[in-house]
Amino acid sequence: MSNATNNNPRKVLITGANGQIGQVLAQNLRARYGTDNVITSDITKPKVTLGPFVFLDILNTMRLQEVITDHKITEVYHLAAILSASGEWNPIKTWNINLNGLLSILDLAKDTPLDKVFFPSTIAVFGTTTPRVDTPQDTALQPETVYGMSKTSGELWCNYYHNKFGVDVRSIRYPGIISHQSIPAGGTTDYAVEVFHEAIQHNKYECFLEKDTRLPMMYIDDAIRATIELMEAPAEKVKTRIGYNLSAMSFSPEELFTEIKKYIPELAVTYKPDFRQEIASSWTESIDDQRARDEWQWSHDYGLPEMVKVMTEEISKKYKA
Ligand code: SER
Repeated sequence: MSNATNNNPRKVLITGANGQIGQVLAQNLRARYGTDNVITSDITKPKVTLGPFVFLDILNTMRLQEVITDHKITEVYHLAAILSASGEWNPIKTWNINLNGLLSILDLAKDTPLDKVFFPSTIAVFGTTTPRVDTPQDTALQPETVYGMSKTSGELWCNYYHNKFGVDVRSIRYPGIISHQSIPAGGTTDYAVEVFHEAIQHNKYECFLEKDTRLPMMYIDDAIRATIELMEAPAEKVKTRIGYNLSAMSFSPEELFTEIKKYIPELAVTYKPDFRQEIASSWTESIDDQRARDEWQWSHDYGLPEMVKVMTEEISKKYKA
């Protein structure tokens, strides 16, 4: 990734900025484009405010329009969403937030200075009819969660607004994201972050998935770099306007815990699968991301051993401090 340019006319809005990806993305974009050129937004106040923040409920279209026009926003990273596990508790609310929020933004992008949109999609767009191993870019999408349904439809709307109205919208199907900066909430892949906190504090963890459920995962630095590289790629390279498949590593809970035990040998794990097991079982286990590698030269840095090393170090530091 090249360095940020100084006279950058970009004005960025991040929705759902208090979440797992938003906090780290905001820091990175502010370092590249300047603190005041990146406005974070969410429905609750952030724990720490490191730059301009506005309250924004994504379903309040008037307020959304006000923020985008008043701040002369040119790019939106639309991260506000309810994730897979939480989504099952409130399907209609999840559909409204995940899909209608996106539609308002895409529609504003038709005729305001807003000219670029990032839409985070997910491995939750896949379902039991999708090939499980090396899942292709173009494949069966019959998700079984409301979250997956909303993201699949969202991808199609992105493609539609691009083809029909020329909106420069770009999207990634994120695998489970593993980060030390914040604890994810409401997802099915959350176990892979929770375990580090429990292992370092208490030497034990009760896992809500079965030990052999392999899922695609990615370390936060790779996810953030991919996002910025995709958004900064020349438009002609971005030939795919539904979500790009993106891959870094795949592992099962047991494989992850074995790697963590190299640093914390005392770690004792028990398994108590809950409703999230069914969600995980409906997803695929590894991803073919050749399209992203070919079109905008994506490549990952972190595999399982590298990720476990940095996560163990960073989370240990946090608790020592
Ligand atoms: N990490 C998400 C979830 O578990 C998948 O995109 O819901």
